[in-house]
Amino acid sequence: MKVQKNLIVITGGAGGIGQACARAFKNQPLILTDYSQEIVDETVEILSKEGFDVTGIACDITDKKDIAKLTQYVADNGSLKALIHTAGVSGTVKDLKKVYTIDLVATDLLVDAFYKLAVKDSVAILLSSMMAHTVPTNKKYDEALTNPQAPDSFEIVSRFVNNDSDIMYNFAKRGVQLLTHKNADKWGEKGARIVSVSPGVIETPMALKAAEEHPERMEMIKQATPLKRNGQPEDIADVIYFLASDAARFITSTDILVDGGVIHNIKTMS
Ligand SMILES: NC(=O)c1ccc[n+]([C@@H]2O[C@H](COP(=O)([O-])OP(=O)(O)OC[C@H]3O[C@@H](n4cnc5c(N)ncnc54)[C@H](O)[C@@H]3O)[C@@H](O)[C@H]2O)c1
Repeated sequence: MKVQKNLIVITGGAGGIGQACARAFKNQPLILTDYSQEIVDETVEILSKEGFDVTGIACDITDKKDIAKLTQYVADNGSLKALIHTAGVSGTVKDLKKVYTIDLVATDLLVDAFYKLAVKDSVAILLSSMMAHTVPTNKKYDEALTNPQAPDSFEIVSRFVNNDSDIMYNFAKRGVQLLTHKNADKWGEKGARIVSVSPGVIETPMALKAAEEHPERMEMIKQATPLKRNGQPEDIADVIYFLASDAARFITSTDILVDGGVIHNIKTMS
């Protein structure tokens, strides 16, 4: 890749939504990153064969040194158009601290690191979840979720999640939405934006794993969805493409719910 303007950086680039996002940005320079070099290389090879302008670098997003390598790699290759942060784990990972660290603390680390690369018209797009919309506003944990790098943040939030990794996931994803508000002024001073996207059930390896664990819950969600289907990765990637474009130039500090309408129905069920 030559030094280029308008780089699109995708974390979780080997995952279901990450790969669909890469495919939405045809003819734009992409930097793809994921946990291991092996899966990054595999994905880069597939996308390159399909004609995409893509390079890749491994990054464990919970590791500050890896993040520094990633941001240096981006800086060496050009200027930032969009950070599309899709890397994450679901509540099927039973370790509550791991869920909190990967889904929220690492998001905060990435937003801080990429702020230094943000220029006018850059945008950070963070993947939250429709399940974040089931967590009510509450000062007691919202402050901890807004400051996930604070030493007592995990412990404070843990008091509210009943030792349940699915609930911890919902809280962490609420935290992702709160991070967009926390950072919007700072990014705005540079003329840059920061938003979150909350998918419903999207048929990717992550959702298929959750479906194996809770088949009845998954069927209930599908039946409660006005459109009577699960989402596809492209349903999310198309919205992300829009959010990264100039057409979304006045959208910042907000969450875009892309769930086929289901969370409204779930919340109003008695
Ligand atoms: N699929 C859904 O139904 C759904 C619903 C709501 C929200 N989301 C969110 O969308 C995002 C993408 O989900 P997906 O369905 O594509 O999942 P996926 O499991 O297909 O992809 C996630 C990717 O993140 C990577 N990853 C995990 N931990 C990492 C780490 N420490 N460092 C670097 N990379 C790491 C994985 O290797 C994987 O490639 C996630 O944040 C998820 O929470 C998904």
